[in-house]
Amino acid sequence: MTKNVIVTGGAGYIGSHTVVELVESGFTPIIIDNFSNSKPETIDRIEKICKQKIKVYNINCINEDALIKTIQWNEIDGVIHFAAYKSVSESFKKKEDYFLNNINSTKILLKIMEKYNIQSFVFSSSCTVYGNTTKLPVTEKTELTKQSSPYGETKKICEDLIFSSALKNFTILRYFNPIGAHESSLIGEEPSKTPNNLVPLICECAIGKRKQLTVYGNNYDTKDGTCVRDYIHVCDVAQAHVHALKKMMNNNKYRKLFNIGLSKGITVLELINLFEKNNNIKINYDFGKRRDGDVEKIYADCSLAQTELNWGPKKTIAKALIDAWNWEKEKKSY
Ligand code: WQD
Repeated sequence: MTKNVIVTGGAGYIGSHTVVELVESGFTPIIIDNFSNSKPETIDRIEKICKQKIKVYNINCINEDALIKTIQWNEIDGVIHFAAYKSVSESFKKKEDYFLNNINSTKILLKIMEKYNIQSFVFSSSCTVYGNTTKLPVTEKTELTKQSSPYGETKKICEDLIFSSALKNFTILRYFNPIGAHESSLIGEEPSKTPNNLVPLICECAIGKRKQLTVYGNNYDTKDGTCVRDYIHVCDVAQAHVHALKKMMNNNKYRKLFNIGLSKGITVLELINLFEKNNNIKINYDFGKRRDGDVEKIYADCSLAQTELNWGPKKTIAKALIDAWNWEKEKKSY
């Protein structure tokens, strides 16, 4: 008997890739998405990859009434909560919106899951909760320093809410930097607003939609002065959700938190060079001032997820950058 899993934000970047992995692992995903930062046509392309229809509800996750009235929660076995605003830089300009959307949606889902005794919850968290830590690589035990953006603050508050909930089973996944796209080039990073993240902006430069990339700061204390991040293929991030669900569905008390990254840090310039080398294309960039909220260096130690979830990244950064570029070229035709 297949398990029904609610995927909030399931039309989004990580959400859509996770829906594909869920179907391929025998789950029945049900998407809740208000398309505030995703596109309805993504659903058709998810269905094309999965070769089956996917149930979708256009609901805002802070609309408790609509959630209760529309979804048959007594038939739901698990929930994965992606729906959130997620731009570090944008969160400074829209702090209220970030707090309202990211925190209230989590509170409402926790209330519903407790009411309907849904006992498998995966929460999409972020490495930004670690703040500007100097203790690298970060493990799940690394002490959190003050989050460097309102976005990171919302994720920390949500994690605390989950830990203080009555849920028997939950898994919090702290993603590092998801990049790349499904190798079919049918789904990928497709924000409905201007992208803030590095790789989609590199791709826009590569395809000519953008004249030049600005590298935010080259005077950091790193090998080439640019920030260090831990970039991981989005399909590997998606797989981690399936492993977490399987683990919880065979447990009756599983309250865990994992880092999900490649466990390797590279600089912005190294990433640009990898993109150029693997896609045989030149990126025009210049150096600008530092961006608010950027931490200097962060990368993970993901050994806990490898042992506990039996999960590990299978794809390289080079593969992710090739898949990202193929997606950029392909999506022009959608
Ligand atoms: C990466 C680096 C920028 C754009 C992301 C997600 C966040 C969370 C953590 C999951 C930084 C530099 C960027 C540009 C640049 N993940 N950059 N020029 O800020 O690490 O956050 O990972 O939850 O949701 O957003 O990612 O891609 O914005 O930046 O130099 O035009 O690239 O300064 O050093 P970030 P990013």
